[in-house]
Amino acid sequence: MAQNPSPAAPTAVRLPRYTRAEQDEILGGGDDPFGVASTGLSWLPKEEHFGVRHGDRLVAHAGLRRLSVAVGETGTEVVGVGGVAVAPDVRGRGLARLVISAALEHARTMGPRHALLFCRPPLVPLYRHLGWRPLDEEVIVEQPRSRLVTMPLRTMVTPPRDNAPWPAGPVRLFSLPM
Ligand SMILES: CC(C)(COP(=O)(O)OP(=O)(O)OC[C@H]1O[C@@H](n2cnc3c(N)ncnc32)[C@H](O)[C@@H]1OP(=O)(O)O)[C@@H](O)C(=O)NCCC(=O)NCCS
Repeated sequence: MAQNPSPAAPTAVRLPRYTRAEQDEILGGGDDPFGVASTGLSWLPKEEHFGVRHGDRLVAHAGLRRLSVAVGETGTEVVGVGGVAVAPDVRGRGLARLVISAALEHARTMGPRHALLFCRPPLVPLYRHLGWRPLDEEVIVEQPRSRLVTMPLRTMVTPPRDNAPWPAGPVRLFSLPM
């Protein structure tokens, strides 16, 4: 009997949109799929979206958006990475690596010399493994009604294109986090 050919290696593509329905397709419709509800933070949607499909099904996502920040006294821009998600039944197969790589490939074309993300402490080793490094400086972010709060999650950074060192000093986001 003829054998099925092995399935093609998954590839990441740019997504034309990423709504709550697409997120639910990946993570299910739970109340707190990213495990960050206890922070009480409000978040910005992302502007560019990258995903992996298995057949008709979306199984992984990473999003990007440009953010204004100050590091120490210096204003600059970073590419914020967020909404990283892989469907529970296909985790541990490199799909987060694949979709984050696609997002960072695009980040290289956007101008800012650094990408930044926020994650729960248990994910620090995973992101370190993917070339990100944790920042120990305080990171202040905006919240509704002009409130400023210290980010309670871990902040991680990576230079998407030229190994630019992250500048010294406390970090201030001039927006909600992404
Ligand atoms: C976090 C999440 C995206 C990871 O997805 P995944 O597809 O299982 O991750 P990958 O298989 O691509 O793993 C990425 C790499 O990290 C490595 N890795 C995983 N856990 C690790 C750990 N604890 N320490 C070091 N490396 C680790 C993997 O081996 C892999 O490396 P490799 O490509 O060299 O083998 C997924 O668990 C998820 O969607 N969780 C819920 C939503 C969430 O919390 N998102 C994060 C928002 S910041």
